[in-house]
Amino acid sequence: MTSQQAKAAEFHACDKVYASEREALMATLDSISAVESCAGGAFATWITQCKDPTLRGALKIIAEREAYHGRALGRRLAELGGQPRHVLTPFERDLEAYLSNPDVSDADKVERLHELVPDPAHVVSFVLDIVDAIKEDTETREILRLYQQDEVSSATWLCNYRNQLHTGSRVAAE
Ligand SMILES: [Fe+2]
Repeated sequence: MTSQQAKAAEFHACDKVYASEREALMATLDSISAVESCAGGAFATWITQCKDPTLRGALKIIAEREAYHGRALGRRLAELGGQPRHVLTPFERDLEAYLSNPDVSDADKVERLHELVPDPAHVVSFVLDIVDAIKEDTETREILRLYQQDEVSSATWLCNYRNQLHTGSRVAAE
């Protein structure tokens, strides 16, 4: 491959340059699938501790979404010939432990998620940057697009619930 061809094959997204679109998508699928599977486990554990049936109902859907994102993106990674390699960062492990911790209240968990994503419309917005840059792999593009839409839905619900606790229009269950 000439340097000109190599340059043409480059994939630019999220202020990063990858050697190719495939390489960029495999790295993206790898990290997201690992984080989502981990979050699916954390939310599932939280359900067993959750004191408010309203919140618990939403968590049941959110936990399933996280788990199936992990599966669907992991499957696409395998179809592209990739292997799961992502090692959870200390930040990711810490968040999983926090959400799974029976000694942390529902309100504190919701608040922590709100601090991480104060504007739910922008949750995982980096994925849109990748979606927009994809030229060839439209299959992965649509998987990522719908994944991002799910995340906005989950984050919006949690943000609304948190705001109700914050304004006193909802009281945290004991
Ligand atoms: Fe997620």
